[in-house]
Amino acid sequence: MWQATTIMMDGELMPFADARLHPLSLAVTYATTVFEGLRAYHLPKEGKFALFRLDEHMRRLQVGMKLLRMERTYDTAYMRECLTRLIHANKPDDDVYVRLLVYVSGTGLMATTGPVGFTAAAMPREKSKFVDTGMSLGVSSWSRLADNASPPRIKSTANYHNARLTQLQAKSDGYDGALMLTPQGKVSEAPIACFFMVRDGKLITPSKASNILESITRDTILTLYEEMTGEKAEERDVDRSELYFAEEAFVCGTGQEIVPVASIDRLPVGDGSVGPLTRKLRRRYFDVVRGLTPDHAGWRTLV
Ligand SMILES: Cc1ncc(COP(=O)(O)O)c(C=O)c1O
Repeated sequence: MWQATTIMMDGELMPFADARLHPLSLAVTYATTVFEGLRAYHLPKEGKFALFRLDEHMRRLQVGMKLLRMERTYDTAYMRECLTRLIHANKPDDDVYVRLLVYVSGTGLMATTGPVGFTAAAMPREKSKFVDTGMSLGVSSWSRLADNASPPRIKSTANYHNARLTQLQAKSDGYDGALMLTPQGKVSEAPIACFFMVRDGKLITPSKASNILESITRDTILTLYEEMTGEKAEERDVDRSELYFAEEAFVCGTGQEIVPVASIDRLPVGDGSVGPLTRKLRRRYFDVVRGLTPDHAGWRTLV
């Protein structure tokens, strides 16, 4: 696997190990950071790399910067140029996972809004080891953050305290991962991925009002499903007990991609194997991200 050699801070490339941020910056003390995880897929036909849905990732990041009232923001054209330079500098020979963090790098009191800085890293990322077997998920006793407390809709570092507590509990309870419920007891999402299930042959996912990150992969799957079946998936409140009726389930995200769920609370999902719709959606997803099909070219930004 290739290695990340070069990182970028505020537009400057430097050796990966040389990146520095002050420990008293607001980014560290108050988690005043918004970030994105993107993938640049290797396109075998073109022999090039393409960032998947860069515009949508940048739009989410921009809303995050606005909500955190950062005193400066970055536009998509500038970040595209930065990420292109970063990826080329690392000379990847396979898919790239990009982490882009924007933060208040200044020190000061809690309401400090600048100076603002950013770090971008391009790294290899191993594929999930649960793709063929499916994951075991446990419903967490930690609730998902409430929108009027720490909005999960934006990708702020602060939100991952909640996600991490959930993941740590799941691991110590012997599960591969967790599923979180809203404070009202409806299904929300996994700590680093959104959740889909199939019931009576129909694809269902918790709505955007279920305290989820507005996931770009979730949106991609909703679009691809509608194109494949001519039907819209159901985006709605999902009760916990519906989980046990599911014929198939999977989690999705840029980092996770599409990972089947084999059991929830140690009860099998369907017959516990990877379901046919999950397989079909995975195949179509990889055709699209790798440009093996000409459609959705607008989702692939060549770098
Ligand atoms: C909490 C959470 N939900 C969902 C996702 C999936 O989001 P996306 O598809 O935009 O990567 C992520 C990805 O990092 C996440 O951290």
